Amino acid sequence: MILIQSWQEAAKAAFAIRQKVFIEEQGVPEDLELDEFDPLATHALAFQKSECIGTGRLVPLKDKCGQIGRMAVLPDYRNTGVGRALLEQLIEHARSLGIQSLVLHSQVVAIPFYEKHGFRVQGDIYDEAGIPHRNMILLLPKLNSVQMPTTPTPYLHRVCYSDTDAAGFVYHGRYLEIFERSRAEWLYQHDLSPTKLVNEFGILLPVRELTMNFYKPGRLDDLLYIDQVIEHRGRTQVAVKQTASRMIHEGNADDLQIIASALLHIVCVDTTTLKPKAIPDWLFID
Ligand SMILES: CC(C)(COP(=O)(O)OP(=O)(O)OC[C@H]1O[C@@H](n2cnc3c(N)ncnc32)[C@H](O)[C@@H]1OP(=O)(O)O)[C@@H](O)C(=O)NCCC(=O)NCCS
Repeated sequence: MILIQSWQEAAKAAFAIRQKVFIEEQGVPEDLELDEFDPLATHALAFQKSECIGTGRLVPLKDKCGQIGRMAVLPDYRNTGVGRALLEQLIEHARSLGIQSLVLHSQVVAIPFYEKHGFRVQGDIYDEAGIPHRNMILLLPKLNSVQMPTTPTPYLHRVCYSDTDAAGFVYHGRYLEIFERSRAEWLYQHDLSPTKLVNEFGILLPVRELTMNFYKPGRLDDLLYIDQVIEHRGRTQVAVKQTASRMIHEGNADDLQIIASALLHIVCVDTTTLKPKAIPDWLFID
């Protein structure tokens, strides 16, 4: 589990990790470890049960820029994806703050780790706290609030017996299936399909988390109008809001009554490794 915290909340656990990794393991002088940027930064902490096992921070700079730093994972937990999870959360957090470029001072040995997340080296190697470092940068194009290209023909669903419960209302779990059909239809209308994403592009788009809201009961014979909007787009994740509305006058999409909605966090993963993979831009181009 990764938590994003202020310095006030994170200081104790983050410093304990940094002390073990930077001061004891790498010999960084203790007086260089804490600095004036810690209180200004947002800190990511990785927990295994109640034990903090890794940390990293994001310092906001001027001109929509931010600096990632103090990335550290306890030795026993390295190479198990903890560093990746911390960095991804910090990148997502930077995006949510409107940050458009991230810089960092990478230890030369850690360059391949950051390169896996799209950072590129800049300039020459220099010494920092007795360790060779190199600057790296990641540009974060503005991706928020991207509207999913409109579905040429909206997905409509007529409520039938198999959708309803004994009380005659649409069973809450049915909306998830209806929403999935709508997303699949959206893909088909853009000349894509779940099979094509797997076979031709090597990606899967599983749902990682979802929240649902129910406003009114759906009833037998209702005609439901389903739409979807991208609320947030990150590098490997996308948040899609789907809404089911009853068409009050059939054929009139301006006269809708909202019935239920779901906010789904969908992650893009590689079909072979099942690890997060950047969402292809073309998925969002009309
Ligand atoms: C750098 C560090 C934070 C990475 O954390 P981690 O939990 O070991 O990294 P992950 O397991 O999430 O690795 C993610 C990917 O990066 C790769 N990677 C991690 N460290 C690497 C390294 N030093 N060299 C090359 N690749 C590395 C992993 O193999 C993995 O690749 P994969 O996705 O293809 O499997 C961790 O090694 C650490 O704390 N090091 C000591 C402190 C340090 O040097 N911090 C960096 C300061 S700039």
